[in-house]
Amino acid sequence: MRVVLTALVIASAAFPLAAQRFGATENLGPAIPTPQFLVERMLEAGHVKPGDMVYDLGSGDGRVVICAAQRFGARAVGVELMPDLVRKARQRIQSLGLADRVSIVEDSALRVDLSPADVVTMWFLTYSNLRLRPHLEKQLKMGARVVSNEFPIRGWKATEMIQVKVGKMEHSIFVYEIGKTN
Ligand SMILES: C[S@@+](CC[C@H](N)C(=O)[O-])C[C@H]1O[C@@H](n2cnc3c(N)ncnc32)[C@H](O)[C@@H]1O
Repeated sequence: MRVVLTALVIASAAFPLAAQRFGATENLGPAIPTPQFLVERMLEAGHVKPGDMVYDLGSGDGRVVICAAQRFGARAVGVELMPDLVRKARQRIQSLGLADRVSIVEDSALRVDLSPADVVTMWFLTYSNLRLRPHLEKQLKMGARVVSNEFPIRGWKATEMIQVKVGKMEHSIFVYEIGKTN
């Protein structure tokens, strides 16, 4: 956890350069890819099933949405601020033949329409989760699951908290369900 936090703080310093279209105030966290084993654990934790609509907020290189489609049979939308990551993810999706089920929108997680989502995944900082919370509360349907990597959503009660230990590293996954958050 300490290693992850240090990496997040260092990478945060580089972010303002990247927030081109939306401005640095829209920044909810730096671009650090989730290790693949954690991506799968997050999607399992969200009980993603075939046909579900998964939104990954801050989708980076697209690994979560790609895994949601390939391994879980879901449809998926990635939402990403950084144009170069949007481009990279779209290229991967295209080359893997997933474009009929997976898409990336260049937009802010703080504004995007989330009403179709059955499951939302994200890896932002605690303060960012707090900023995002009113948008999730307004947009998400009853029963939608929210899976947050490493950081909780303060003010919400988790339905599950999963600890994943790999060597000396310990990761936390927080799971929430709309309608059961208080
Ligand atoms: C920690 S990375 C996670 C990337 C990816 N979800 C993964 O698990 O590999 C966070 C991502 O959120 C993006 N981001 C930051 N603020 C955002 C916002 N307001 N809307 C959309 N994406 C944002 C960053 O550019 C970065 O790619």
